[in-house]
Amino acid sequence: GTTLRTAAAEKGRYFGAAVATGKLSTSTYVNILNREFNSVVAENEMKWDATEPQQGRFSYSGGDRLVSHAQANGMSVRGHALLWHQQQPGWAQGLSGSALRNAAINHVTQVATYYRGKIYAWDVVNEAFADGGSGGRRDSNLQRTGNDWIEAAFRAARAADPGAKLCYNDYNTDGINAKSTGIYNMVRDFKSRGVPIDCVGFQSHLGTTLAGDYQANLQRFADLGVDVQITELDVMTGSNQANIFGAVTRACLAVTRCTGITVWGVRDCDSWRGSDNALLFDCNGNKKSAYDAVLNAL
Ligand code: XIL
Repeated sequence: GTTLRTAAAEKGRYFGAAVATGKLSTSTYVNILNREFNSVVAENEMKWDATEPQQGRFSYSGGDRLVSHAQANGMSVRGHALLWHQQQPGWAQGLSGSALRNAAINHVTQVATYYRGKIYAWDVVNEAFADGGSGGRRDSNLQRTGNDWIEAAFRAARAADPGAKLCYNDYNTDGINAKSTGIYNMVRDFKSRGVPIDCVGFQSHLGTTLAGDYQANLQRFADLGVDVQITELDVMTGSNQANIFGAVTRACLAVTRCTGITVWGVRDCDSWRGSDNALLFDCNGNKKSAYDAVLNAL
């Protein structure tokens, strides 16, 4: 293939980008998006604060715009994210206990039901594990509703959209470390108890080095019987950038159950990482050497 989307498709994978729907009217942006990518995820528009700005009042305009763009251009859609400790609406931040638990599960049910049949994979829960050596959960208002909040969310999502793959998604899980092992143990427990989980997303917001056991870490999750996906890839600029993009791509292809890669934006100037210039296209929309490294690896 001569584009990311065709080359990935030849390997049975997708190649996706996070999209800010406000940029879908910028021709440089949308031309690259449509040429190179066959999967999209909303950078912000499907998060809790965007989809339920007031309790019980749902707003799907941004998400709908992305879904219709995807459908018109042969792209699948990753849903991101049903529950997360960040970008919660103010009303949810003010709740706790059973009121928050019920609101959270209702949010999962309503949003996953609304998009039923349109989402390839949902990030049901995002970033619930702590950084550092504990291997345990992050403290958050959701976690304080009880340790079973994650499985409750996955069960609600399955009931709402039985056809969507249900993912747990996190960062700093780029090798075998305490955090990724904590998640690994949760997934193993879910599989043993029949809690519905289909995939684990590895955000892969990377610096100037890549863990030597990046592929081995993906593989150990796949060996639990879940798909794995690279969900938010971006890499700090520097002499290693192209090498790291290429190595991540090769790692995914080497793991049979790694179903696709998503980069977290299109051009460097679209990136939340600003001066890290962390993406595959420069601010003018030109392909970088990192792009060539990915295409050559596919
Ligand atoms: C980021 C978006 O890119 C920004 O536009 C927003 O201001 C903050 O969130 N992990 C995630 C993503 O799961 O949702 C985050 O996206 C980046 C880190």
